[in-house]
Amino acid sequence: MPIKQIDHGTKEYTQMVELRKEILRRPLGLTFDAKELEREKDDILIAALEEDKMLGCCLLTKVDNQCVRLRQMAVQNNLQGKGIGATMMNYAENVARDAGYNKIIMHARKTTTPFFEKLGYKITGNEFVEITIPHYIMEKRLR
Ligand SMILES: CC(C)(COP(=O)(O)OP(=O)(O)OC[C@H]1O[C@@H](n2cnc3c(N)ncnc32)[C@H](O)[C@@H]1OP(=O)(O)O)[C@@H](O)C(=O)NCCC(=O)NCCS
Repeated sequence: MPIKQIDHGTKEYTQMVELRKEILRRPLGLTFDAKELEREKDDILIAALEEDKMLGCCLLTKVDNQCVRLRQMAVQNNLQGKGIGATMMNYAENVARDAGYNKIIMHARKTTTPFFEKLGYKITGNEFVEITIPHYIMEKRLR
């Protein structure tokens, strides 16, 4: 399963946004606004693709010279639990490390903290609500 970086504004980016809408937003009755997507121009956009199907995605947003934030991690519903998420995280960490970052942080949905803990991420603060559901800040040092 090829994992690669994609470019903002391409057909693949449209597929990525569709996947994120379906997995992350529609179940909460939410969507994306144009400004939110425009701000992703400088992000590192990561996709797991098979032929021209998007199986999963995530993105990295620069926080400062040391740290990136992982966001918008999603795997197609019928393909979850098959290792795609873990493989994408490994790729994202390598990209972040190669770009000189020392740390990844994220706002993780409470339901997914066991997934990220398996990959070495630690909860750093108290539970909080974002987009209507409970989250935790998690982080991992990359070196
Ligand atoms: C969370 C998500 C990205 C994980 O991707 P995935 O491809 O399903 O995960 P993997 O198959 O790579 O799982 C790796 C390991 O984590 C475990 N795991 C995955 N999701 C888990 C969860 N929600 N709770 C507990 N364990 C989980 C798997 O069982 C597997 O364990 P193993 O190594 O012992 O076999 C995916 O399930 C998803 O898109 N969920 C819905 C959207 C979402 O919540 N995104 C995260 C927003 S913060």
